[in-house]
Amino acid sequence: MESVARPECLVVGAGVVGLAVADALVRRGARVGILERGARCGEEASAAAAGMLAGGAEATGADPFQDLCRASRQLWPGWAAELERESGLDCELELTGLVRVTASEEVALELERKSAWQRDHGVEVSPLLDAPQLAQLVPGLGSSVLAGLHYPTDGHIHSHRLTAALVAACTRQGVAIETDTEVVAIDIRASRPRLSLSGGRELEADYVVVSAGSWSGALMPASAAGQLSVEPVRGQMVALDPGRQVLPVIVFGDHGYLLQKRSGLVLAGATEERVGYQSWPTAEGVGRLVTAAIDLMPQLSQSRFAYAWAGLRPHSADGWPLLGRTEVGGRVLLATAHYRNGVLLAPVTAELIARAVFEGSDPPELGPFSPGRLA
Ligand code: GLY
Repeated sequence: MESVARPECLVVGAGVVGLAVADALVRRGARVGILERGARCGEEASAAAAGMLAGGAEATGADPFQDLCRASRQLWPGWAAELERESGLDCELELTGLVRVTASEEVALELERKSAWQRDHGVEVSPLLDAPQLAQLVPGLGSSVLAGLHYPTDGHIHSHRLTAALVAACTRQGVAIETDTEVVAIDIRASRPRLSLSGGRELEADYVVVSAGSWSGALMPASAAGQLSVEPVRGQMVALDPGRQVLPVIVFGDHGYLLQKRSGLVLAGATEERVGYQSWPTAEGVGRLVTAAIDLMPQLSQSRFAYAWAGLRPHSADGWPLLGRTEVGGRVLLATAHYRNGVLLAPVTAELIARAVFEGSDPPELGPFSPGRLA
């Protein structure tokens, strides 16, 4: 199918990824609308996110997923600066670095091997560091920490501020954002994709991009790429207030991670639970996170407990995002299932999906993430 000069695009879902895609499309001259089922933008996985840009620590192999994370991490500073200019809002980007630490000798050996293959693939990571070396980077680490790796270019942003900045940037550029608007079905057989909304309304567009996170699976068109599923995986988080700066870098341990926001709050995350759409924190989950946090940094034991929350990470059948057309030449694209890395991957997703729309076919970089791989 030929590309359309000034295409009309509808994005389903106003989380960070959907908003970023809308922003990239409107910048290139598309007419863009966003349909969000919730009352506010970014209130699901995006609101729950710690906001980590931690592709090095999250990668599990020298594979296209690691390359996608690296590409997006490289885009982040310029993307954030442009977004901040456009929106007038500061997203609190902090490139603090991250230490991945472990209390297990077996994991320490794995980390040593990981450092070697990651350095071979251009990832900025230290060799394996021992406890005294790690203590120089993060004074006050718990005595159970044996060894770890330092990723000096990882960092974090404030996910709520990011959503606000994206909403402001999209709105300023004329993107129409409709909240409380649920899409219940997508018909791709029409000459233009047609959306059925709850309440009986129907909409058409030249292109539809599905960025509905854990709610994407139900929207997969029946004739497209087999039966794609997107499963919710709950992540619980807690916020602690130690009353002073204690974490110069992100600390990512065997049972959780810690990072300190500009406000001084330390965020401790996160559980991984397959409990359907139960998006609330539990006593057991909060207890585990607090225990892991104090184990990583004992001085946190006297912190004020601020609050706890949870969100649902969207997980595809193989854990990689679903990016690109549901069928060759089609006009329905997926930009979803970013699982643990939606914030990190937002810039590269936006860039590649906008190219896919304007170039009329998916760029080769999307190949490994094509929905067709799971058909
Ligand atoms: N990106 C961290 C998490 O999903 O918990």
